[in-house]
Amino acid sequence: MKLSVQLAPQNKRGLLLSNPVIAASGTIGYGTEYEHPFDIQSLGALVCKGTTFEPRDGNPQPRIAETSCGVLNSIGLQNIGVRSLIKEKAPVWAKWRVPVIVNVAGSAEEEYVRIAREIDGVAGISGIELNISCPNVKAGGMEFGADPVSAARITSAVKRASSLPLWVKLTPNTADIVGIARSVSDSGADAIVLTNTLKAMAIDIKTRRPVLGNVTGGLSGPALKPVALRMVYEVAAVITRIPVIGCGGILNAEDALEFIMAGASAVQIGTANLINPPAPVEVIEGIKAYMQKEKIEDIHDIVGVARR
Ligand SMILES: Cc1cc2nc3c(=O)[nH]c(=O)nc-3n(C[C@H](O)[C@H](O)[C@H](O)COP(=O)(O)O)c2cc1C
Repeated sequence: MKLSVQLAPQNKRGLLLSNPVIAASGTIGYGTEYEHPFDIQSLGALVCKGTTFEPRDGNPQPRIAETSCGVLNSIGLQNIGVRSLIKEKAPVWAKWRVPVIVNVAGSAEEEYVRIAREIDGVAGISGIELNISCPNVKAGGMEFGADPVSAARITSAVKRASSLPLWVKLTPNTADIVGIARSVSDSGADAIVLTNTLKAMAIDIKTRRPVLGNVTGGLSGPALKPVALRMVYEVAAVITRIPVIGCGGILNAEDALEFIMAGASAVQIGTANLINPPAPVEVIEGIKAYMQKEKIEDIHDIVGVARR
């Protein structure tokens, strides 16, 4: 049974994963913090927390709230900064079998470029995930990703700054996901990740105030799944040169298979890691069991099958 997927086919270095299941940014830290209740090396890849040039403290508390079928977060890119990441985390990753992708964030194009330059060629870093989709920061983030012209400009600038495989992670907070996907694909993205969180909020009727310290946050989890799935379906229909990676509300193998059948070559798992930490390995096992039962030799045979 073949589960391996190439997630940067247009890039000289390439980015071959042993299986299509990836831990999503912000839900597994740097992968180094704690004893995982599963073998982290068995993942297809993991994406570390959004990384800015300087360390950031993030947004005021509270920064997480549960809703009826999802989670709101407004972490605001709390992270250790790129220099500490290179010094403290990359040497650990360099000893790992699982590829680690750095989620790159910033408040100006120049910041993204500086980070991309710093991490180019660093042992232990296998790729960049360009985060132009964070709804929780005042400047940058989603602003870049919601407009095809600025999304294209920042993608080309980062592409020039680093030879690492470049995934671009898009926001679902747009009316024209296909237009934005097309512009980042034309600007050198090696894969497109769909999607980040939906901008959302909750109000506490006792205090009569917004629940989150930042007022708004990003909605993830099952509520996001049908939206992200539709976006994967629409984008994968027109972008065939580079892979699409699905992300949004995947809790189990059935959810992951829906994304794959919509056209995703791989999937990312976020909120499920917070609820059920072994979720990614359960998804890998569930995909294998489905393939065995349905006599599918190669995962590629079902990528986009719902569109055929
Ligand atoms: C607590 C939390 C922190 C997150 N931090 C980041 C981040 O730093 N960078 C990023 O691109 N996405 C971040 N995300 C978004 C996830 O990577 C993912 O795109 C989103 O949650 C949708 O997937 P899910 O429904 O499986 O969680 C975060 C999500 C959560 C819940």
